[in-house]
Amino acid sequence: MYKRKDGYYKKAKQEGYSSRAAYKLKEINDKYRLIKKGDVVLDAGCAPGGWLQVLSEIVSENGKVIGVDILDIKNVRGKNVTFIKGDLTKPETLDGVLGIADKFDTVVSDAAPNTTGQRIVDHSNSLELVRIICNFAKRVLKLNGNFLFKLFDGEDRDEFVKELKEVFSSVKILRPDATRKNSFEIYVICQGLKNGKQ
Ligand SMILES: C[S@@+](CC[C@H](N)C(=O)[O-])C[C@H]1O[C@@H](n2cnc3c(N)ncnc32)[C@H](O)[C@@H]1O
Repeated sequence: MYKRKDGYYKKAKQEGYSSRAAYKLKEINDKYRLIKKGDVVLDAGCAPGGWLQVLSEIVSENGKVIGVDILDIKNVRGKNVTFIKGDLTKPETLDGVLGIADKFDTVVSDAAPNTTGQRIVDHSNSLELVRIICNFAKRVLKLNGNFLFKLFDGEDRDEFVKELKEVFSSVKILRPDATRKNSFEIYVICQGLKNGKQ
């Protein structure tokens, strides 16, 4: 069983991050350098806001982070952060993002639909959401831009990864150490969009 107040939960609380998820992103970025100072980043499914805090720190004052979620965020301040409350599957939400920025260095998505407990259904719902976010990422990412996303793993993953490999120079799958051991979450790291915005 997942113990809610595990080490990462306590560490996040002590260090002032809104969620333990912050460490997943730190871990991934330390290894893959997806986000750097001055970048413009979209955080899809950003509540409660741990990733937003980490992103705000990394891009620093010359960068920009736009976070989108159906739910509200908490305790995220930062002049370089803009939050849009909305559903990523709705065109009006995506239009709202475009109203703020239309060219991104990186899109990150920790977005996850509510789980049912049935792995096949959860995988399918997660992939459906990721596909929508991925299509948007392909529209707004710069040439050589990056896309990081979470997926509830399952049988359609390989086919999707194959499609991603056609549009990105590198696609890697990982389970970060901060992910609960019994979880079926994976993170997919896509680097170097081949036909991005100039
Ligand atoms: C695991 S949480 C993200 C945690 C976040 N990365 C952090 O560090 O605090 C997943 C989020 O995805 C959001 N989400 C799921 N489906 C969504 C949708 N269609 N549109 C917008 N947000 C969505 C949920 O509301 C939830 O807040």
